[in-house]
Amino acid sequence: MRLIFLGPPGAGKGTQARLLASRFGARHISTGDILREYAAKGNELGIAAEGFMRRGELVPDRLILKMIGAELERSPHGFIMDGFPRTTAQAEAFDALLAQKGVVLDAVVVFDVDRNTLMTRLTSRWTNPITGKSYNAITNPPPGPGMRDADGTELIQRDDDKAETVRRRLDVYQQQTQELVQYYRLSGKLFSVDGLAPVEEVTAQILSKIGRERAAS
Ligand code: AP5
Repeated sequence: MRLIFLGPPGAGKGTQARLLASRFGARHISTGDILREYAAKGNELGIAAEGFMRRGELVPDRLILKMIGAELERSPHGFIMDGFPRTTAQAEAFDALLAQKGVVLDAVVVFDVDRNTLMTRLTSRWTNPITGKSYNAITNPPPGPGMRDADGTELIQRDDDKAETVRRRLDVYQQQTQELVQYYRLSGKLFSVDGLAPVEEVTAQILSKIGRERAAS
């Protein structure tokens, strides 16, 4: 399984990537999660990225591309790219990297969700800081009492999920990432899913579009 999940912030890319990666043994590569982990550990790349992330801006391509090669090396059983590529320069560099390794992409899945829903989802998202699993105070409340996971872990809200930063992230998506839909449409590997459907239905749509619906049962 070699997939790219493309879509605006809050469209459900991480939710679906986590589910499918664990089901199919592929590596879930979330550039956002990796950057947050680097920043928390005080790694140089993470520190360089922090300010951009806090403002809801994209991290410069050269920093992102530095980490992607190594991530691919760790993905012998396939990958699901979540949040990468985000610019045409990243997509072109990724194509070159895949060609160099003789790896062929199966599909690019675009998540369609309207802006109002994205705003609501992100400003009410709560995440487990250890597993990365995300819940939603409105649509998918956490199982524990208060904002806690089933094992009692206290859930957190991301710094960039404040309303004004979310607005900026959505604008940045429109200005710098949305053009990738056309880029991948030309490759003939692009499929859209209705990201407004319930989580299990979105999973079923993805599996159907990539021809793995039998694996869903
Ligand atoms: P990143 O961490 O990648 O965030 P994002 O792309 O903005 O996406 P999110 O993680 O916010 O949303 P998601 O689509 O994964 O939604 P989720 O599944 O959580 O990037 C953060 C920052 O890092 C960027 O702003 C940038 O600065 C930097 N960065 C990262 N990659 C970069 C790159 N390649 N280049 C440059 N900079 C980069 O779902 C959201 C909520 O909705 C959750 O509460 C969930 O429970 C709920 N939900 C999910 N699915 C459904 C559903 N079907 N129905 C109802 N609720 C649902």
